[in-house]
Amino acid sequence: MPMKLLVMLGLIRLSAAADLPKPELMMDAVNTRYVLRWNYSTTANFTAQWAFSHSLSYRGVCFGVEAHCDYSAHLDYSGLFVLRVRAEAEGQMSDWAIREFCPDVDAALGTPSELVVEAGDSMVTVSFKEPMAESGEPMSSVLSQNSPEATMAFRLCFRAEDAPSQWQAKTLNTTLHTLSLPAHTRYCLKVRAFSEHFGKRSRYTPEQCTTTLGSSMLWRVLLPLLLLLVVLGGLGFLWTRRRWRQFLPSALPSSMMMDSKSHQPLLVPRENSCAVTAVVAMPTAEQAVSDGPALAPSPGPETGGCHC
Ligand SMILES: *[C@@H]1O[C@H](CO)[C@@H](O)[C@H](O)[C@H]1NC(C)=O
Ligand SMILES: *[C@@H]1O[C@H](CO)[C@@H](O)[C@H](O)[C@H]1NC(C)=O
Ligand SMILES: *[C@@H]1O[C@H](CO)[C@@H](O)[C@H](O)[C@H]1NC(C)=O
Repeated sequence: MPMKLLVMLGLIRLSAAADLPKPELMMDAVNTRYVLRWNYSTTANFTAQWAFSHSLSYRGVCFGVEAHCDYSAHLDYSGLFVLRVRAEAEGQMSDWAIREFCPDVDAALGTPSELVVEAGDSMVTVSFKEPMAESGEPMSSVLSQNSPEATMAFRLCFRAEDAPSQWQAKTLNTTLHTLSLPAHTRYCLKVRAFSEHFGKRSRYTPEQCTTTLGSSMLWRVLLPLLLLLVVLGGLGFLWTRRRWRQFLPSALPSSMMMDSKSHQPLLVPRENSCAVTAVVAMPTAEQAVSDGPALAPSPGPETGGCHC
């Protein structure tokens, strides 16, 4: 019996032993797209198969001269699999090249896409698309289906364009967010996805830059107008006081006299409106300034800063 087995094993080894080398496998796995690639020095046909790691009953996926095989449609995200590939040419076969593969451990998280930054008054609105599975559903759903407590979040990094190394960061759990930032400043932003539970982090998106708008633009137009009004008001007041009463008191109807008396009260609402405008403008500027540093120390649950 042991003799028979040895002979059989020997036969198997003989038939499989070959001059053809095994392909060198490399897994290219992002989100739920799993493409196994290999290099091979000569033209050959390749057989690519997979099995559950516990059963080792193999099923074929690819056969042909192409040096890659897309396993995406065959493997569940939470499974543990064994993939194998062999080459055959001129009636000879190579040994199987074998690779264990566990998507929820080995597959990378894709980078968010379509990052759009839109400037507003002392703010920037950021939107982007989260990484998507091959099925078209968001990766956050795939992750939470496989592990209900697993969530996906995003790391938003931003900096003033003239301060290249001073990144500030915020952790988001939505793909739309508004940042309060100082007005009239050019900001650059980038974002990546991560899952603490699965220990996965995507790459950062390329940076997008925009310049914040601000109410002070309006202020620059309003200020000369207000100054003009104050000067006119002052002149009117002086003229009223010095000339009006001296030269025209008896010649004017009483209604005009009333006007000249109420001129001083008229100036008060004008000053009031000036003060109100200043009160409206100042807090937004202060708030924007105080918001900036307040965001800086928030490290979020993810560590590792903002460098790619
Ligand atoms: C195939 O060859 C290229 C360049 O020679 C190399 O960069 C790549 O890593 C190789 N891939 C595998 C699967 O060995
Ligand atoms: C690959 O297989 C096809 C079909 O079985 C065969 O016609 C072809 O000659 C094979 N190519 C090589 C390089 O063995
Ligand atoms: C999103 O984050 C906020 C605060 O950061 C938290 O209150 C909320 O529960 C989170 N939502 C989800 C779906 O995780």
